[in-house]
Amino acid sequence: MAINKIGVLGAGTMGAGIAQVCVEAGYTVVLVDIAEDFVTRGVNGILKNWDKAVSKGKKTAEEAEKYRSLISTSTDNNTFKEVDIVIEAIIENINVKQKVMKELDGICGPDTILATNTSALSITEIAAATSRPGKIIGMHFFNPVPAMKLVEVIPGAETAQATIDEVVDLSNKISKEPVPIKESPGFIVNRILIPYINEAAILYQEGIASAEEIDKAMKLGANMPMGPLALADLIGLDVCLMIMEYFCNEFNDSKYRPSLAFKQKVRAGHLGRKSGKGFFDYNN
Ligand code: CAA
Repeated sequence: MAINKIGVLGAGTMGAGIAQVCVEAGYTVVLVDIAEDFVTRGVNGILKNWDKAVSKGKKTAEEAEKYRSLISTSTDNNTFKEVDIVIEAIIENINVKQKVMKELDGICGPDTILATNTSALSITEIAAATSRPGKIIGMHFFNPVPAMKLVEVIPGAETAQATIDEVVDLSNKISKEPVPIKESPGFIVNRILIPYINEAAILYQEGIASAEEIDKAMKLGANMPMGPLALADLIGLDVCLMIMEYFCNEFNDSKYRPSLAFKQKVRAGHLGRKSGKGFFDYNN
């Protein structure tokens, strides 16, 4: 089955980024979220990226105009009736993801692939809520999506080889590098990255060094493009905490214990860039 029309569910940072790279590859995209405000914010973010690219001379105004014409928006999941694949990028909660996948299963045609951008959860468990486990797959993008080359492609226990092949092909067509991997909590990148960030948060909590010093050390001493605590703020401290708690439960191993710094900041509502404050302050 050829993929022509793509549905993206969730117009937050990840969903908007996914929609952007899909239209830039020439696909028609319908971007859906539960409220008009969320969809508008997502599209405005995409338009801002294109404005920047035009002013840098990386894209022409005509290209930006053409891309814009390929995106439509909605707040109704029934809009996904006609798409060939839906890429879900909503909240990281297994109950919500299962509920939404079950709903999409009832709406979409039988050949439609339902992909999830989950950052750690079980594809098999998400697929179990649907009547099409062969067509459910993990398609994990990285933030900021337009700049990050990798897509982890994760089959669940019953995902068909044809579905894996389609998603690998789509990833290549949207100029990403797909890495197909077996299902395991956090896949490859987050299994390594989130405990690394957690260790930085533990150092911070212990008062060994300031957030600035920890990040400076990792940038200058390990050539990281950004420090671990700024990266935590970019990912979202609620997401980092959720992933560490998931690892702790899934592996039943205390080496994945989340840092108190994550817990306190999340409890205070300091979630990182998206709330204006995390390890660093983004209000100015
Ligand atoms: N949205 C869209 N594009 C962006 C962007 C954003 N928020 N931020 C940067 N970019 C683009 C820029 O437009 C620029 O593109 P061009 O080269 O085409 O002009 C390119 O990225 C480089 O940007 P800059 O020159 O402004 O800045 P930089 O060189 O400092 O790079 C960075 C910025 C790409 C974010 C870099 O700091 C980096 O790679 N950081 C690490 C990011 C990372 O590790 N992400 C993974 C997080 S984990 C995750 O996402 C998975 C999960 O499940 C939690």
